[in-house]
Amino acid sequence: MHSYLDLQCLITLFTLVSSTNYLRHDATINTVEEFLDTLINSSRYDRRIRPFFDQQKACNVTMTIHINTISAINEVNMDYNTDLIFRQSWYDPRLNYTGTDWATKSPQITLHYSLIDRIWVPDSFFRNAKEGKRSDITVPNRLIRIHRDGKVLYSQRLLLKLDCQMKLQKFPLDNQTCVVNIGSYGFATNDLAFFWEEAQNVSAIRVNEDLEMPDFVLSNHEARYCNRTTATGLLLFLCLSI
Ligand SMILES: *[C@@H]1O[C@H](CO)[C@@H](O)[C@H](O)[C@H]1NC(C)=O
Ligand SMILES: *[C@@H]1O[C@H](CO)[C@@H](O)[C@H](O)[C@H]1NC(C)=O
Ligand SMILES: *[C@@H]1O[C@H](CO)[C@@H](O)[C@H](O)[C@H]1NC(C)=O
Ligand SMILES: *[C@@H]1O[C@H](CO)[C@@H](O)[C@H](O)[C@H]1NC(C)=O
Ligand SMILES: *[C@@H]1O[C@H](CO)[C@@H](O)[C@H](O)[C@H]1NC(C)=O
Ligand SMILES: *[C@@H]1O[C@H](CO)[C@@H](O)[C@H](O)[C@H]1NC(C)=O
Repeated sequence: MHSYLDLQCLITLFTLVSSTNYLRHDATINTVEEFLDTLINSSRYDRRIRPFFDQQKACNVTMTIHINTISAINEVNMDYNTDLIFRQSWYDPRLNYTGTDWATKSPQITLHYSLIDRIWVPDSFFRNAKEGKRSDITVPNRLIRIHRDGKVLYSQRLLLKLDCQMKLQKFPLDNQTCVVNIGSYGFATNDLAFFWEEAQNVSAIRVNEDLEMPDFVLSNHEARYCNRTTATGLLLFLCLSI
């Protein structure tokens, strides 16, 4: 009986030591690449599993959109092109490296784009996109930055052709409202919830000040919650300039 208890105690101790071992004893880890190999090593980090899955809490993703251009507004095909920067941010407790040597050496780490596929990212998509691609001009325009507390920032530059149901009754005098509808492809809201970033003074939607369209002006934009199962959306109000 006694020896059984001792044994169990030993086992507990052993697992405790070995699980912290990964990140604490990093005196021998010299480069940020080596540190990342331990932090997002596939033996301890499964990128198929979303953050907070084990705690049965939703992973909350906040986002901002910076619109660089709106072009090729086409009343016949009812679509337009946009070039935008889509930023998403969430916590992944598995990437919290507070308490390691690297937390002071490097309070945040920017991942090289080749490492992005090794961590979990939200499966957000633009529901009304007809075509879309990431900008790959010179190098892929994607960035992931991990803060030491486990907060992840994922930024991508996207080139999209978006559907916009234009009302043409009063054309060409009409105002068009174009919806940009963003949701998760596979998760329900109790697993993955999207929010617009609510920073003081800073809108979740930013529009390039030099934005110029040949026939339209952007008269207003709004970040909204679509209040369907998983979606948030952006409304763009376009006016024909006469
Ligand atoms: C994961 O960690 C093991 C043991 O520390 C190491 O041998 C392996 O190279 C690491 N894997 C990657 C992909 O870095
Ligand atoms: C996400 O937000 C919901 C409600 O806003 C909250 O109940 C939940 O705890 C949050 N998830 C995390 C991981 O903080
Ligand atoms: C990160 O980990 C530290 C210590 O391990 C903990 O105190 C802190 O609350 C964690 N931060 C977050 C945002 O979960
Ligand atoms: C279009 O919007 C502008 C600015 O919001 C407004 O002044 C104008 O009356 C609107 N035109 C129509 C046809 O609704
Ligand atoms: C918000 O704006 C006000 C006035 O424009 C300014 O005084 C304040 O410092 C700003 N706050 C932040 C957090 O930028
Ligand atoms: C969605 O609509 C319902 C009913 O109008 C409301 O109770 C709920 O708070 C709304 N949710 C959001 C996220 O706006």
